[in-house]
Amino acid sequence: GYLDLIESLGLRVLEIPTHPATGLSLPALELALDTQPVRAVLAAPTLSNPLGSVMPLAAKQRLVKLLAQRRVPLIEDVVFNDLLSGDQRRKAAKAWDTEGNVMVCGSFAKTLTPGIRLGWVEAGRWRDAVATHKRLQGAATNVVLEEALADLLTQGSYEAHLRRLTASMRQRRHEARHLIAHHFPPGTRVSNPPSGDTLWLELHPAIASMDLFKRCASEGITFGPGELFTATDRYRNCLRLNFSGPWNAITMQALARIGEIARQMLERPAASPTPPVLRRA
Ligand SMILES: Cc1ncc(COP(=O)(O)O)c(C=O)c1O
Repeated sequence: GYLDLIESLGLRVLEIPTHPATGLSLPALELALDTQPVRAVLAAPTLSNPLGSVMPLAAKQRLVKLLAQRRVPLIEDVVFNDLLSGDQRRKAAKAWDTEGNVMVCGSFAKTLTPGIRLGWVEAGRWRDAVATHKRLQGAATNVVLEEALADLLTQGSYEAHLRRLTASMRQRRHEARHLIAHHFPPGTRVSNPPSGDTLWLELHPAIASMDLFKRCASEGITFGPGELFTATDRYRNCLRLNFSGPWNAITMQALARIGEIARQMLERPAASPTPPVLRRA
């Protein structure tokens, strides 16, 4: 969604290399700032989607400082932070913002239900501009829902809910990784995020995940092909699995089936495209 949104604003995306465990590479970001006309940085420092990487607290602090020095705003997406309930890494980079240079945006889509459509923003220096923008959009929020949510957040049941949710996600990731190890072709690599319900897979380079997607979709099984997550042509052999829906025998079978189809693609590759006809000069 971000890539489409940025394109619709007439802006261009520059992707910053990200480590699967520790997230955004600060040296790479610094290089980008030195050499490119960067107008803003959009990041999910805590449980990035799709890798699930988490920047260490010291790195979050350095990120905020670096961008404040350069007067480049940080738009921090904290939609997944609460899934690190009870873990100090849950803390947002915004916590180190002393100059209002960080716009932090969150929602309850990942912790309560995507359908709730309630989120929030603390826009620092841009507070008034964001409030005006929201007013102009005319999208009033549902006050009844807001009141109900406020009750939930203040009565202590939210933290208890988060503990149950993250425990069930841990179990799903564990079972999914087990199924992947058994059913996907040898050499498949899979992320191991500390929370959340997505896994990122790197398949053998000969497997195009878009082709795999098409074959799976014809059997009613879907996932996120790697190229959805980039503005470049990378990640063609990667895919994102999401376990936020029902998790039962049918979904487990579907996951195993993706692996089987990937194996078949590797064992019996589709006929390569017809080579171009060479013309005589
Ligand atoms: C990183 C990230 N930010 C934000 C969102 C969207 O949240 P919402 O449904 O509240 O708009 C998503 C949903 O997939 C997401 O993955």
